[in-house]
Amino acid sequence: MLIHSASQLLTLAGGPQRGPRLGSLGLIVDGAVLVRGSHIEVIGSTTELLKQFPSEERIDASGRVVMPGFVDPHTHLVWAGDRAAEFEMRLQGKTYLEIMAAGGGIVSTVRATRQAGVDDLLAQARERARGMLRSGTTTAEAKTGYGLELQAELRQMEALLRLDAEGPLELAFTFLGAHAVPEEFKGDPQGYTRRVSEQMLPGLLDWWRAHAAQRPLPFVDVFCETGAFDLAQSRAILEAAQRLGFPLKIHADEFDNLGGAGMAAGLGAVSADHLVKTSPEEIRQMAESGTAAVALPCTPFGLAEAHYTPARAFVQAGGLLAIATDLNPGTAWCESMQFALALACRYLRLTPAQAVAAATINAAAAIGLHERVGSLEPGKQADLLLLSVGDYRHLGYRFGGNLVERVIKRGEVVV
Ligand code: NIG
Ligand code: FE
Repeated sequence: MLIHSASQLLTLAGGPQRGPRLGSLGLIVDGAVLVRGSHIEVIGSTTELLKQFPSEERIDASGRVVMPGFVDPHTHLVWAGDRAAEFEMRLQGKTYLEIMAAGGGIVSTVRATRQAGVDDLLAQARERARGMLRSGTTTAEAKTGYGLELQAELRQMEALLRLDAEGPLELAFTFLGAHAVPEEFKGDPQGYTRRVSEQMLPGLLDWWRAHAAQRPLPFVDVFCETGAFDLAQSRAILEAAQRLGFPLKIHADEFDNLGGAGMAAGLGAVSADHLVKTSPEEIRQMAESGTAAVALPCTPFGLAEAHYTPARAFVQAGGLLAIATDLNPGTAWCESMQFALALACRYLRLTPAQAVAAATINAAAAIGLHERVGSLEPGKQADLLLLSVGDYRHLGYRFGGNLVERVIKRGEVVV
C-alpha cells in the first residue's frame, strides 16, 4: 500500500527527542509512505515512490497530513461505574483531596469495579478504546488500580490483556495496586504497603508467568501523594517491584510535592507522571536520568485547577517530555490525545510541533516502545493517521472536534 501526495508527512524520525530537539518533525512536503504487511518499508517523496512502486495499491493523501498514530502513555482505561456526582460536588466547592478523604474518589470507583466481572470490565473498556482509536490513538498504556486487592486487580489486568488481544488498539500494561488505601486498610497505609509489597506483587508475578509469560512484565506504578502513599511507602513498593524485576512508573507531584519525582529518577523508573509541583532541583535530576516526564494536562483542566506541569522547564533542562490523557473516571474522562495536545499548547506552552513529538515518539519512549511505534521509519510498525487538514498546526490550534480522518494500525485501515 502506497500512501502518497501527503501535503505534510511527519516522520518524527531519529528517536526520542530530549531538550531542544523536541519538535523535530522530520517533515516531508508531498511525502509518501510504502507499507508492506504490518510494517513501513520506504519513506520518501511522492515523485520518487510513485516511480519506484508504480503498481502498489494507493491511498491518495492530497490535502492531508500523514503522521504516526498517537501514543497515550498514561491511562486508567478499565473501570466500572462513574463519578458524575463528584464532578458536581467539586463544582460546588469540595476539592478532590477532600472528597477522597471522605471515602469518595478512587475508592468509590473501587466499590463499583470490585462488583464487576471480567466480561463487564472488558465491555466498558472496549467502548473507551474505540473512542481513543477514533481520535487517533493507536497505542496506549493502561493501568489497573481500581481493585486494590489481588484478585480484583488481576480481573482488571485480564480485561486489559483480552482487549489488547482483540485489537486494534495496542496496549502496554501497568499494575497500580498502590493507587489508594482500600477501605479495609483505612488508617493503615503502612499495612497496605506491606500487603502490596509482600503479597500482591509476588502474586502478580506468578499470575503473569501463568497467563502472559510471552509478554514483557508490566510496569508497577504507585500514587505518591497526600492521602495516598507517602514517600517512604512509595519507595518500599517500588523497590519491592524492582527486586522482582518489574519496570517502574510513579504518579508524583499532582497536588503536593512529596519527593516522588526525584526518587523515581534515582530508581531508574521509566517515567514519572503528573509533575505539577516538581521542584527545579528535581526537574534537573529527572533531566539527567533516563526517566521520562509525562505531563497530563487534562487533569488540572478536568479539576478546573490553575497549575499545570512546568513543561518548558523540563525541556530547557534537557529532559524527555511526553504528554498523555490520564483517561480516568475521577479527574479526566478524556479519550482524545488531540484534546491533550490542544491543552499542552496553551497551558504547557508547547508549540504544536513540540506537542506532536511529545504525543508520539516521546510518548512511545515513556512506555519503552519507541523502537516499534511513535515514528514513521522503515522497519517500524505501520501505525499512522491521515488528518482531514493539510497543516499539522491545526492540531493544537483547533479543539473539541476530531481532525483524524483515517487510522491505519499495523498496516490495516481500522477507522
Ligand atoms: O492520575 N492521581 C491518581 N489517579 C488518577 C485519578 C484517578 C481517579 O480519581 O479515579 C490520576 O489523576
Ligand atoms: Fe493517573
